[in-house]
Amino acid sequence: MRIVDFRSDTVTKPSPEMWEAVKSMDNSKLGDDVLGEDPTVNELENKAAKITGKEAALLVTSGTQGNLVSLLSQTNPGNEILLEEQSHIFGHEVGSAARIGGLMISTYPTERGVPSIEQLQDLIRDKEDIHEPATTLISAEDTHNFHGGAIVKPEILRSLKDFAQRNELKFHLDGARIFNAAVGLNIPVTEFTKQVDSVMFCLSKGLSCPVGSIVAGTKEFISKARKFRKMVGGGMRQAGIIATFGLVALEPKWIKRLEEDHKTAKIFAEGLKGFDLPIKIHDPDTNIVIVEFLNKVRIFKIISELGKEGVLAFNISKEKIRFVTHYGIQEDDIQSSIEIIGKVLQNL
Ligand SMILES: Cc1ncc(COP(=O)(O)O)c(C=O)c1O
Repeated sequence: MRIVDFRSDTVTKPSPEMWEAVKSMDNSKLGDDVLGEDPTVNELENKAAKITGKEAALLVTSGTQGNLVSLLSQTNPGNEILLEEQSHIFGHEVGSAARIGGLMISTYPTERGVPSIEQLQDLIRDKEDIHEPATTLISAEDTHNFHGGAIVKPEILRSLKDFAQRNELKFHLDGARIFNAAVGLNIPVTEFTKQVDSVMFCLSKGLSCPVGSIVAGTKEFISKARKFRKMVGGGMRQAGIIATFGLVALEPKWIKRLEEDHKTAKIFAEGLKGFDLPIKIHDPDTNIVIVEFLNKVRIFKIISELGKEGVLAFNISKEKIRFVTHYGIQEDDIQSSIEIIGKVLQNL
């Protein structure tokens, strides 16, 4: 049975070009990265800094680690930070900001990643009040995973940047899928990254590397982040092996390939809309399609029935299933999955 795995773009495996690059490596391309001596990691970090328009960049083990070292580098324990209420950092990073960073968290609501600046302003603590913690950082997520891969446009990030500056906050971007946003709007990624002090993006999602994420920002920020990365166990020694995949992933051709995932997501969404069922299909901006059930359903039963037919997906709430398209899902997989989903839902 053909398995079509929509659970996440993290399930992607490397491309043939990536394997070619790894196969043509030898020890001259490796060194101890904790000592700054791995030439391939240094090349990747320079390339990532250039692409994001930042002074410097750092290879980290994962998006979670990248977000954590970004927060640690730009706050002090006891500070309060503002996180979007459905953001990955708030809900899916094991509370590391609180547990490891000693940070208080205040959340803000958004409409598919777009906040009200007025509401945000009300969350800022009074610096003069002896009782209150200092608010020192705001984070945004782009594309927004649990809002269905929603693109938060550069002008929205710009208004957040102005808000951050007015209130003397650092501005961090969880850009795990920021290249999906850039490709989705067909604009350079710097249109997004220039609005923020620090950005994290993942190599291991739609860009299909086996492991690794990047953080980028000023040289001063990156030197702090490097030390925090070491603290949380991210000193990876001969990490050039990993960086080689990343160097291929950051080629324009490979970034542009994300368009294919956006196209398959649209075809998938349109196909599902064809069913006369009590479901709402959220129009995808990028590579994530949310199917919302309008009736009370047993969501785990649906997931399990789909799984038996070879269509894998995760639910993101009691009413919503998330389908993520990626390298490894082709147009014919989309057609067969639409048929299977229709059959399973009609037989519920
Ligand atoms: C928006 C967002 N940020 C951060 C992460 C964390 O990345 P990782 O799984 O590499 O820790 C994810 C992972 O799915 C994500 O979707």
